[in-house]
Amino acid sequence: MAEEQTQIRLIEGALQQAALDIAGSHLRDLVFQPGRDALCFGLEDMQVDCTRQPITNDILAMLLELAEAKSLRQSIDDMFSAAPINLTENRPVLHHLMRTPQQQKTQAFQKLSNFAEKVRVEKVVKSVVNLGVGGSDLGPAMVTQALAGFHDGPAVHYVGNIDPCALFDILQICDPASTLFIVTSKTFTTVETLANAALARRWLDQNGINHGDAMVAVTAVPDRAVEWGIDDAHIFTLDDGVGGRYSLWSAVGLAAMIAIGKDDFLALLDGAHKMDIHFKTAPFDQNIPVVMGLLRVWHRSYLGRMAYGLMPYDQRLLRLPAWAQQLEMESNGKRVDRHGNLLSVPAGPLIWGEPGTNGQHSFFQWLHQSVDIVPIDILVALRPTNLPDDAAWQDSHKMLAVNAVAQAEALALGLRNTAQPHRHVPGNRPCVMISWDATTPYALGRLLALYEHITVTSGFLWNVNSFDQWGVELGKKMATEMTAKTNNGSDLTGYSPAARAFLDRLNYR
Ligand code: F6P
Repeated sequence: MAEEQTQIRLIEGALQQAALDIAGSHLRDLVFQPGRDALCFGLEDMQVDCTRQPITNDILAMLLELAEAKSLRQSIDDMFSAAPINLTENRPVLHHLMRTPQQQKTQAFQKLSNFAEKVRVEKVVKSVVNLGVGGSDLGPAMVTQALAGFHDGPAVHYVGNIDPCALFDILQICDPASTLFIVTSKTFTTVETLANAALARRWLDQNGINHGDAMVAVTAVPDRAVEWGIDDAHIFTLDDGVGGRYSLWSAVGLAAMIAIGKDDFLALLDGAHKMDIHFKTAPFDQNIPVVMGLLRVWHRSYLGRMAYGLMPYDQRLLRLPAWAQQLEMESNGKRVDRHGNLLSVPAGPLIWGEPGTNGQHSFFQWLHQSVDIVPIDILVALRPTNLPDDAAWQDSHKMLAVNAVAQAEALALGLRNTAQPHRHVPGNRPCVMISWDATTPYALGRLLALYEHITVTSGFLWNVNSFDQWGVELGKKMATEMTAKTNNGSDLTGYSPAARAFLDRLNYR
């Protein structure tokens, strides 16, 4: 053990030195070095180009050594073999099982997919409203949007926020007689979801609709859903080991399955399964999630980059950054390791992003010329999906894809202009360029599983628990307490004067 720790410290020391050394290099030189194409990785039609990264082959070799020394292989095996690696909740991590061919043969999957197909075939339901928040919203909402070109089922809406305007606005465009509500909550205790579900039930009742027929639930705690009033036959379950932010592959994806149909949903699962097999079996030096997870660690812990951007050059991937934000930030936004010790280096970057080219006309200025350097991923399909096969549409997509590579180049190479400092673009801004043929359900599944495994890999290397989220509890508890106290007029001692003044201004008391 002591020997392993010494080995890790030696590699970390070498990496710290390498970080200082690489600061003297510029991507405009690095990208032209011979052998640079060794930093391009492929899986089927997906290509991951890391040539515009502030690394050399030697640095990558050191990072790979770090992965070995930190027993990354063992951690990956532990996850895939369902060991209880979520220590604070004493649970295994099972989301990867949701996309195995065996899972598709289970009774639970048959029940789910039969229901989805029934809704699609009967065509009585014209609008589906998923009521869920966080992982019970972001994943399926993102998939539904991403696969808009495959959407041939009823209209599907997602309401997450407790802000009643969110639900109200959706109800304006729904007919109570043909609306199906899916109450999606792993715990079935989430205040936002239950508040929205209660409003939806009231809306159905007020319109003379039997809510028992128009509401179904997705949860890991079916008893709570029954107690709330959902018919047992209308409950679809997921396992406790499927974490919220990793759950779109499970029954949580029901609304998306109704939108695109069982076959396309299965293709999504197959794409993710392909990435699982790659992650599980590919040697680390060719393993895309491992290499990208190592780059996360390199940027955050050695180069001090606090943020990381995700820029899909694909308007239908509009919600991918929001989904990945929960995925990475809830997973790795931690200050202690799996055993409760304070981290010695920061983990988990701030994740944000917007589709290109929109982002180019907004915050890309900051990416190109601010004092800070923030690495990004640029994601782009080579061909459009579900567009007319004529030159005008195809050419427009080509302009999009060219913009993607142009940004990658401009960020890396920059443009010297000593005469006009305001026009000087320093370059040396890193990006990983991820490309694939077309955004089909299969390609999407593969891409999303890649981000899950990047999150898990970097979490393993930081030795944090990427599967719990205790930090969010305090705010929830305070909101619940404040609501109770303001409702029954109890004493607000203990809250700051500003909070008390605010609560008074709300006129609750
Ligand atoms: O607030 C955080 C969180 O617990 C997420 O991790 C989760 O995805 C979300 O709330 C919703 O939880 P549930 O599915 O139990 O309603």
